[in-house]
Amino acid sequence: MDLCIIGSGYVGLVSGACFAEVGHHVVCVDNDQRKVEMLQAGKIPIYEPGLEDLVHRNVASKRLRFTNSIEDGVDNSEVIFIAVPTPPQTDGSVDLTYIEKVAREIAGVLKPGAYRVIVDKSTVPVKTGERVEATIKRYNKDAEFAVVSNPEFLREGCAVPDLMNPDRVVIGSSSNRATDLMKRVYEPFKAPILVTDVNSAELIKHAANSFLSLKISYINAVAAICEASGADVEMVADGIGMDKRIGRNFLNAGIGYGGSCFPKDVKAFIAIARQLGTPFALLEEVEEINAMQLTRFIDKIRESLWVLKDKKLAVWGMTFKPDTDDVRNSVAIELINRLAAEGAHVTAYDPKGAEKAVEWKLIDPTKVTLAATPLEAVAGAEALIIATEWHEFANQDFAAVNASMHTPLVFDGRNLFDPSTMREFGFTYHAVGRPAPAR
Ligand code: UDX
Repeated sequence: MDLCIIGSGYVGLVSGACFAEVGHHVVCVDNDQRKVEMLQAGKIPIYEPGLEDLVHRNVASKRLRFTNSIEDGVDNSEVIFIAVPTPPQTDGSVDLTYIEKVAREIAGVLKPGAYRVIVDKSTVPVKTGERVEATIKRYNKDAEFAVVSNPEFLREGCAVPDLMNPDRVVIGSSSNRATDLMKRVYEPFKAPILVTDVNSAELIKHAANSFLSLKISYINAVAAICEASGADVEMVADGIGMDKRIGRNFLNAGIGYGGSCFPKDVKAFIAIARQLGTPFALLEEVEEINAMQLTRFIDKIRESLWVLKDKKLAVWGMTFKPDTDDVRNSVAIELINRLAAEGAHVTAYDPKGAEKAVEWKLIDPTKVTLAATPLEAVAGAEALIIATEWHEFANQDFAAVNASMHTPLVFDGRNLFDPSTMREFGFTYHAVGRPAPAR
């Protein structure tokens, strides 16, 4: 099929590459000319395992191309996906100006007699599809089209496998013709397809992400009880998670959830519920617990080191989770900045995220030192803090790490290490929700 994706960010670019990989002809549109030129030159603006190969292969086989012209995309495609940003506003509600602008632009280039399916892939509040449809009709009375909601559930860091093997594909549509075309788009993926009305599909995305955030806050609240009682949250999570009705996924205690989805989507869902007159106080508690989690972790560091000012601290991890270079809304970055604000001398290391943290001015390189290796970061440190659970951190030479540190003290904010192994290496090891080391 001929498909167009408007917006070449995480969702748009990975979706475009995966649609091409299964045999569709895809044109990715972006209004950022620099990004389009980069992509045309084979350069990928984001780090996502497997994406570069996928893009190169499909560009070479002429199934994937990039343009800045919406008209080109809309003229040559029967299904048009909208994958533009839907950033949060200061009150937590979703800024839909990019969606509205794209809807108008599509309306401006839709030709009479050429039926098109306009698919919203961006995360949007319930009832946005109705607005998109009304907008296109307002600006183009003759257009023949249907608006469909098709939320995307990919996770950063495993976006390609998530897209190639989704748990489910949700198609929100009130038109049989559009639903049939959407089923053909997804036919090669062999995934379970759930067809709903447009409003339900839109709601599924916010409800799913909020529920996952709730799971994380739930286990983090349990972790606090574990710390107070001497229980081990990892064992508790295993015990809870073995119940198939609950499941072990997203029950990893830590310093809280971050990234560009969960914090924003929980806030948006709270705002949507409030606007609809059905307040969702439970989600406000989810946010509260998430915020407290980092504060409690820093309190724990302070409890051991007393005054943080002038203490040399090593932090491993800057990205909001492993296997990505994304540092936006990263709890690790907030941790680093809060330690630095207390006057600690922080040396941070991250396998992928350091450059972007500086480029996007999320950390101040005059206040935070960046190390080229994990070992370099710990040299002379009075404590090592794990902020992101990168796999490479688990495979360090811990005898060398210990020898290099001023004091062998570890605060593991992601429960990455086995406590007994760390203690065998001579570390005083603190984790989240796990029994504290003997004093
Ligand atoms: C999420 C959803 O998983 C995905 O379906 C949706 O499309 C976009 O939002 P993503 O933000 O890429 O994906 O990351 P995810 O792996 O879900 O992790 C989000 C945050 O939760 C990270 O900061 C992670 O460290 C944290 N997390 C996750 C926990 O603290 N504990 C867990 O058990 C799982």
